[in-house]
Amino acid sequence: SVYKNEQEASVQIAARIAKIIRKKQKKGENAVLGLATGATPVIMYAELVRLHKEEGLSFKNVITFNLDEYYPMQPDSAQSYVYFMNEQLFNHVDIKKENIHIPDGTLKKEEIIDFCLNYEKKIEAAGGLDLQVLGIGRTGHIGFNEPGSAPNSGTRLVTLDDLTRRDASRDFGGKENVPTKAITMGIGTIFKAREIVLMAWSKKKAPIVRKAVEGEISGDVPATYLQLSEHVEFILDTSAASEL
Ligand code: GLP
Repeated sequence: SVYKNEQEASVQIAARIAKIIRKKQKKGENAVLGLATGATPVIMYAELVRLHKEEGLSFKNVITFNLDEYYPMQPDSAQSYVYFMNEQLFNHVDIKKENIHIPDGTLKKEEIIDFCLNYEKKIEAAGGLDLQVLGIGRTGHIGFNEPGSAPNSGTRLVTLDDLTRRDASRDFGGKENVPTKAITMGIGTIFKAREIVLMAWSKKKAPIVRKAVEGEISGDVPATYLQLSEHVEFILDTSAASEL
């Protein structure tokens, strides 16, 4: 779907998330959400906070799994995705601490494989992801699944693309400060979600959105794998959709 602007699109996605949460609440079940970071979902999170404060939307039955985290990364660092999620959402709603999951940027190298396998198990034990929200990087990455990622990949340690590190350099005060690695859910992990929403705004994303939606399905642009799923929706503003 294409919306007039980022604001309208974000409000729609937040409403869709709220609907899932409320529906599950009625049944006495948990809503399991896969969450993303970056500039793209900021307004969506602000709208969820508004729904909590003004319309009584509770997050008590919400379990979240974030897509990714830089590696290495301290959670209290201003660039960490833990910090981002706390600032944008978790500090402002009634979610239970133990229901929040974000890949751990402080692991020792030898702990990473176990952590990643366990992350997958925890998603499964929670009942699987009801909805996964995604942004898209200019390399075509979803989460931090850079070009070359396998369609059946699971949560793992990856090496970041040069363009991804350049795009992140603003947040880190120079590319040399951007970590070279990250822990990310895999394409396979994302695919297991019952619904997937990929959002993109602005002209800057128009070329990669065109490739993701209309391009040949290939590991060179990992987001093209989404064309293979029947429960994916691309939610765009007119600028991001301008090359379709
Ligand atoms: C980041 C994140 C992705 C995000 C993408 C786009 O590096 N790991 O999950 O979708 O890059 O970021 P932005 O929304 O700031 O354009």
